[in-house]
Amino acid sequence: MNKNTKKLTIYKLFQNSKKYSVKWSGYFQVYEKILSEYRNKKIKFVEIGVANGGSLFMWRNYFGKKAEIIGIDLNPNAKKLERYGFKIYIGSQSDKKFWNKFYKKEGKIDIILDDGGHKNLQQISTVHHSLPFIKDGGKIIVEDTGTSFLKKEFNNPSKYSFINYSKNIINIIHRRSPLLNKDLNSYSKKIFLIEFFESIVVFYIDSKKCFLNKEVDNKAKNEWAIDYRHNEYFQGIKDELNKKYGLMNKRSFFRRLTRKIFYRNFLFNIFDNLKIKKIFKEMEK
Ligand SMILES: C[S@@+](CC[C@H](N)C(=O)[O-])C[C@H]1O[C@@H](n2cnc3c(N)ncnc32)[C@H](O)[C@@H]1O
Repeated sequence: MNKNTKKLTIYKLFQNSKKYSVKWSGYFQVYEKILSEYRNKKIKFVEIGVANGGSLFMWRNYFGKKAEIIGIDLNPNAKKLERYGFKIYIGSQSDKKFWNKFYKKEGKIDIILDDGGHKNLQQISTVHHSLPFIKDGGKIIVEDTGTSFLKKEFNNPSKYSFINYSKNIINIIHRRSPLLNKDLNSYSKKIFLIEFFESIVVFYIDSKKCFLNKEVDNKAKNEWAIDYRHNEYFQGIKDELNKKYGLMNKRSFFRRLTRKIFYRNFLFNIFDNLKIKKIFKEMEK
């Protein structure tokens, strides 16, 4: 075990939980990073996947007395944990009707952590059906997202994997850019940030921060800045010609001609893509 992990409060509480639990060693540092701000606060925390209840005790001890810890599992045995004061719901995370009933009863919650069945539909349903019911400042956490790459039991990689669904949300939150000229939807209006860890994805919910973006500038004057984005190719030759023959003054024909040739030239796009392809190959090594 990594020695820094051993020092973490959440790891110590995991080790001292009175009921059995299994976690991946890398998760504890993630928990501390994304959940420490909620300690000793009055929050409603929901975990899908109760099993023996080991993690429920860990969460209760981590968040403190003010927090309400709720468990969800498909296995009716999980109900036994109610004797320890946890609220337990029996139902399937991939069942829309279950979620309707659950949120009708519980109302809005702060955090939901999915450690349930880990299949694509299960993880995707958790996010899709919970999104409207997470308070601003809350989070949706999905664990074991590495299953998006596993064949056995999970039939992945697939177009419909949880990781692909999450990547799709990356596209959707970009609707907040007016340059895309697309309507905001329930995802882009609520998900402020998506954080990807190895095997954990975290959605930060905050509708107040999810507005249509707009360009703003300050009051200072633009003195000399021109975007050189399209000036990467043959800039040396252009500079030389300008120096020798003064061809590049503002209204010159030559300047307009080179702008026509160089601005968004498709050939340069091909050159760029060849370089990118090489980088993509290098990053897979
Ligand atoms: C990995 S265990 C949970 C472990 C627990 N969180 C812990 O750390 O101690 C996964 C649990 O998810 C439950 N589960 C599987 N599919 C489910 C579904 N569709 N809906 C709700 N729970 C499900 C299983 O019955 C099992 O108890």
